[in-house]
Amino acid sequence: MNLEEKLRRIKKVFDIAKVRSIKTDQEAINKYYKINSLSYSFFHDPSYIHIGITRNGSYQKDDLVEPVRVVEIYLQGIKAKKVLELAAGRGANSLYLAKRNTETEFHGLDLPGGQLSGVKNNCSNFYPHFGDYHNLDEFKPNSFDLVFIIESLCYSNDKEKVLAQARKVLKPNGLLVVIDGYLNKNTDELSNDEILAVDVAQKGMLIENFENYDLFKAKVIKSGFKVIFEEDVSPLTLPTLRSFEKKADAFFCLPIFLSKLLIRALPHEFTNNVISAFLLVDLINLDVGNYIILVSKKG
Ligand SMILES: C[S@@+](CC[C@H](N)C(=O)[O-])C[C@H]1O[C@@H](n2cnc3c(N)ncnc32)[C@H](O)[C@@H]1O
Repeated sequence: MNLEEKLRRIKKVFDIAKVRSIKTDQEAINKYYKINSLSYSFFHDPSYIHIGITRNGSYQKDDLVEPVRVVEIYLQGIKAKKVLELAAGRGANSLYLAKRNTETEFHGLDLPGGQLSGVKNNCSNFYPHFGDYHNLDEFKPNSFDLVFIIESLCYSNDKEKVLAQARKVLKPNGLLVVIDGYLNKNTDELSNDEILAVDVAQKGMLIENFENYDLFKAKVIKSGFKVIFEEDVSPLTLPTLRSFEKKADAFFCLPIFLSKLLIRALPHEFTNNVISAFLLVDLINLDVGNYIILVSKKG
């Protein structure tokens, strides 16, 4: 099914103007993760709230650990003593690393009252923190060997601020690992359908605006980092995204009256997610979006 047909099916059941006008502030983001807590566990994974990176063909649960393995290679490479994860979600990434790297201290930060609040911490070298990644004043300057953030910087509308804060808490030569999704083109290069697809897909996940990757990379460099590794893993996200698409397709195959009834009866934080799940695979296939591992060093 092509993008045009998918959008036609979405428009049949969703109020597009309403979806596009969804608020994406921090309160809304917290509510989104609270409401989707069960559905993420049921339809995706109870711990890892990000897309898997599949290096060998078909999707396996273990692919969700692949981004974390990338972080581990770098932290072991510099024998990191102290690591900070921004937007740690349910703590799965840091807890995985903390169990395997017992000599390293792991600090994970996520929004107050958000996903990290209910996490069972069974690691003495993992320290949860509650706050906004735009303000890292609670951490000592020059104190971390590595800062990482997986699939969460996309929520920021002021990424320079987060980059400046990460730079501040990193030691000289400290590493910043960012793994995230972006736009691969400028908006003026997109068709109307593509613009609509990007907008409803991002709003379905409470993201205000996916940023163009080249612009983001320029910000990283301008913020005083030197890029040391960059990998476009977009095709490797497709197995996860296809599994999302399949689940969303089941929803769009329901009789229209039933889909509309569900949309009316259930919270939009849950139902709009179906739109993102339906479209993300196309955004990657059409080269509209990309998914990148970027490692940079504090200069
Ligand atoms: C897609 S989840 C990813 C969670 C985790 N990084 C993972 O890989 O499982 C996005 C996370 O970003 C967090 N987040 C969004 N905006 C934030 C902010 N301003 N400060 C801290 N965390 C934020 C959300 O609360 C949510 O837990």
